[in-house]
Amino acid sequence: MLFKGRILTSAIKSTPSLRLGSTGTKPKTAILMLNMGGPQHTDQVHDYLLRIMTDRDMIQLPVQSRLGPWIAQRRTAEVQKKYNEIGGGSPILKWTELQGELMCKDLDSISPETAPHKHYVGFRYVNPLTEDTLQQIEKDGPERIVLFSQYPQYSCATSGSSFNSIFSHYQKHSLPKNTKFSIIDRWSTHPLLIKTFADRIRDELNKFSEAKRKDVVILFTAHSLPLKAVTRGDPYPSEVGASVHLVMQELGKTNPYFLAWQSKVGPLPWLAPATDDTIKAYVKQGRKNFVLVPIAFVNEHIETLHELDIEYCDELAKEVGVEEIRRAAAPNDHPLFIKALSSIVADHLKDEQGVNPKFLMRCPMCVNPRCGDSKAWYKQVCK
Ligand code: FES
Repeated sequence: MLFKGRILTSAIKSTPSLRLGSTGTKPKTAILMLNMGGPQHTDQVHDYLLRIMTDRDMIQLPVQSRLGPWIAQRRTAEVQKKYNEIGGGSPILKWTELQGELMCKDLDSISPETAPHKHYVGFRYVNPLTEDTLQQIEKDGPERIVLFSQYPQYSCATSGSSFNSIFSHYQKHSLPKNTKFSIIDRWSTHPLLIKTFADRIRDELNKFSEAKRKDVVILFTAHSLPLKAVTRGDPYPSEVGASVHLVMQELGKTNPYFLAWQSKVGPLPWLAPATDDTIKAYVKQGRKNFVLVPIAFVNEHIETLHELDIEYCDELAKEVGVEEIRRAAAPNDHPLFIKALSSIVADHLKDEQGVNPKFLMRCPMCVNPRCGDSKAWYKQVCK
């Protein structure tokens, strides 16, 4: 059994948040990169879990105000142990800073009319928290703020939660004057994102012997979602499927492939089959060589570095008799991915439309009144 693990945290340098745009002057265009974030140190794990467990956009629990804190407390030690096993913290902030810096450098050259550009990081559950970053942006006083979801595939639990939190922030604070707001809400089919994933997969396929290569199962894996959210009409499963389909088209359908779902928590039904169950089942069917592809993550974090690399590619693979398993790197700082980010923003800045009409439509079975209020607010604000 050969395991190709990736511990990439040491490969990237920490990039301090700059007060000025990429050219060292006051930014004209601010790009707020939204993501869930991850604890940089294990002492942040409890508060990170607490914010997740009390976010009703992310998870709905009975008596959430009491059960959420109880679960966060109970899970802290176990989650801290996992972060310790990947080097003591999540690399998501370092990757996002690097991606943002490279993206803005390219934007300054391909879109000089909107330069200088400056990236900001807005995390939902850990510092830098989105609401704090919004205040920093306001101090910098750009003409335009682009709210850019770093989840390529839209889910109301992830991107939706970030956008709802910005709406909630501005219910308590006044909007900055003379500032244009707009949203990039989803980009699961962007050609350069697709090419990035295809390139990451080719890199791993090429490490298999020629005799094996064409039989390697390309196992796409994405964070699972409760079926309750799916039946409400959450677009995430279909958008993940669209990414998978286009990546396989880009690769030329060279290999067998499958999409499975990871990271389920709790007893309720979630999207299935689970990634670990899928590996076990295919090994039983005689398919023993895999490339795992984290299709919904744009940078390394606990789900890739621990769940995929340690729990599946190492422990599970040994247990069930996998022959060879490799894991495609997340997009991270792949040059095609950086180009994808800057092209998406440059096209968006040229577009008259500040918000995608699809974003303004709620899930058909949405029961969260905050979604309705939030979307009505964005319709007004992102004109
Ligand atoms: Fe999807 Fe409210 S749950 S719009």
